[in-house]
Amino acid sequence: MTVGLLDGVPRLADLDVEGRRVLVRADLNVPLQDGEVADDLRISASVATLEALLARGASLVVCSHLGRPKVAGDPGTSLGPVAARLAQLLGRPVALAADVAGDDARTRAASLGPGEVLLLENLRWEPGETKGDPELASRLAGLADRYVDDAFGAAHRAHASIAGVPALLPGAAGLLLTRELEVLGGLRDAPARPYVAVLGGAKVSDKLVVLERLLERVDVLAVGGAMASTFLLADGHAVGTSRVEEDRVEQVADLVTAARSRGVEILLPVDVVVAATFDRDATPETVDVTAIPADRMSLDIGPRSAERIAAAVAAAGAVFWNGPMGVSEWPAFAHGTRTVAEAMATSPAFTVVGGGDSAAAVRSMGLDDRIDHVSTGGGASLELLEGRELPGVEALRTTSRTS
Ligand code: 3PG
Repeated sequence: MTVGLLDGVPRLADLDVEGRRVLVRADLNVPLQDGEVADDLRISASVATLEALLARGASLVVCSHLGRPKVAGDPGTSLGPVAARLAQLLGRPVALAADVAGDDARTRAASLGPGEVLLLENLRWEPGETKGDPELASRLAGLADRYVDDAFGAAHRAHASIAGVPALLPGAAGLLLTRELEVLGGLRDAPARPYVAVLGGAKVSDKLVVLERLLERVDVLAVGGAMASTFLLADGHAVGTSRVEEDRVEQVADLVTAARSRGVEILLPVDVVVAATFDRDATPETVDVTAIPADRMSLDIGPRSAERIAAAVAAAGAVFWNGPMGVSEWPAFAHGTRTVAEAMATSPAFTVVGGGDSAAAVRSMGLDDRIDHVSTGGGASLELLEGRELPGVEALRTTSRTS
């Protein structure tokens, strides 16, 4: 019997927060450009929980990591731009502490009144965060008297703020974390059929485990992006100067054989868009996968391949998509990703985009509102579908209590 992902996980509605100071672990790790938030998916997705807590009379100490800073206090990884965007979305001031769980955070947290919001500085400015240091967990817990984990995008990290704090304060899962687990748990355990997975992105090595797990469940697996070149090589095609992972070819060939013997339909590209150089302005040329020139590299799936995937998406009961089909940030090589995104938006199937670059692509195309669920977790959603226990969820289930 499959254990539901939310079994034993304390819920927000059961947590007494009125007049309490609540430490909310969110994943506000967003891309920045010129000191401003370039894509606010994760911030806007965190607002529902924050508003629910504020409406129930809590004061909030919000915390998150941002990027992977090499040195503490690196201004390029300050949560300043996030605080500004969060304040706009909440329609109320968001104070930014000068540190994570040091003197400034402690003083400001202690003077918060109901309805007030404090954002801590980048959790990863504290070296103990990624090490899961209990001392940091206890300093963080000391800032509040309740804990809410809403950081689905970081639930696969056993970090201090995620795996350590739940044992120290009464706590619960936030609304975003709960929704992500419901949707992705449903896909993992009981997808509507036909179930179509579309996987793209750069590296096949990052996705081999999830590919193996998905093959046990899906009816159709479509592969695009740079990782498709390794599949094409494994299928006996010459791929020119395309990026391939030679050391994975055998594993990929075995995977394709296993999939076919299970009756899973594998959609590999039948045509690709190639160029002479890895360059935004390189001249695109569409060729059959049987005729990729020796001096060309594949930078997108071709139109026939994109149409085949679009047809599978249109006929699906459920679709999970992770990873762009080509170099989607370059217009000449974005057609495959756009075609898949449009097919997702118009399909009657239950459609889920699994975080990262594919989520950014559907948002930049303005199609996110027409997709059933755009997950805020790239790595987390893949690990969940691989069948792994996420440390953030495990900590809530095993150590958290609501009082
Ligand atoms: C992500 O962007 O996938 C999450 O925020 C986790 O970030 P990390 O990969 O740096 O741990």
